[in-house]
Amino acid sequence: MTTKRILSCMQPTSHLHLGNYLGALKNWVKLQDEGGECFYGVVDLHAITQPYDNDTLAEATREIAAAYIAGGVDPEKSALFVQSAIPGHSQLMWLLATMTQMGKLERMTQFKDKAGKHKERAGLGLFAYPVLMAADILLYKATHVPVGDDQKQHLELARDVAATFNTRYNRNFFIQPEPVIMGDATRVMSLRDGTQKMSKSAESDMSRINLTDDADMIAKKIRKAKTDPEPLPETFKELEERPEALNLVTIYAALADKKKERVLREFAGKQFSEFKPALVDIAVEHLAPITQRMNELLKDKAEIDRILQSGAEQAREVADPVIEETMDIMGFWR
Ligand code: TRP
Repeated sequence: MTTKRILSCMQPTSHLHLGNYLGALKNWVKLQDEGGECFYGVVDLHAITQPYDNDTLAEATREIAAAYIAGGVDPEKSALFVQSAIPGHSQLMWLLATMTQMGKLERMTQFKDKAGKHKERAGLGLFAYPVLMAADILLYKATHVPVGDDQKQHLELARDVAATFNTRYNRNFFIQPEPVIMGDATRVMSLRDGTQKMSKSAESDMSRINLTDDADMIAKKIRKAKTDPEPLPETFKELEERPEALNLVTIYAALADKKKERVLREFAGKQFSEFKPALVDIAVEHLAPITQRMNELLKDKAEIDRILQSGAEQAREVADPVIEETMDIMGFWR
């Protein structure tokens, strides 16, 4: 049996929230505990493709690493690394950029969204973002990449670039990674608008539960979360038309590790005045230890740095030979 090699990353752009935890981190931990060989990165080179603060980048990077660990990523089992600490990411990106068509990059919906109206003013880095992401993945010959829906197109590009390389140099060198789509089941939406994803960039902080929120704040945000006047229905079908209600049930189910149908069986006919306190309890029960561990870690920067150093060493052990072999295959003088 060949083991799965799993790779996934997040950008150190701001605090993580419940959506990142339930939609991504929790699955990373599951994959780790199922025995996969896991590489989890903090992609700071991606973070600088949009305006950022150079005074806080390093701290934001540590904070994401602390969130990974507090959320259950075990540095003894998984390699936890910072992208910029492994030169191979930038090196491979350049090599792959030479075999990526601009037309394909132009079709990336995330680029179109982020570049906005003035595409000609967008930086080359933003345009090439998916090539760097392809490099992140191919550099480790990852077989499985957990991503959210919004990253599927980028992963498809990575598969495409791998195939282009293999065809061009006539060998089966890069692995085409499989997406691990982490279920719509845990798509966490905004607490203010059940049709929008919970996001770190939404202007209202009341729309999300941050992993740094304390119990009082969590309770307040859930109490104020938008709902509708109906009691909870008996069937899932009836929930589908009620985005805010669906979202709260989804969050409850994900935290309790239960099926949504089962949560409905427990709460059918009950009002939100009864459901919300139950949701507060379970949210606080789950998140309080994470928040606490994160705050402890953040007080001990040296410990985080030690973990990231050791993760970088593990990452380089895999990445360096891949870069060397890629350059050999491409025919460089060495
Ligand atoms: N683009 C991803 C995001 O914004 C982050 C990312 C960068 C990533 N490199 C990756 C995710 C490689 C998975 C694998 O969410």
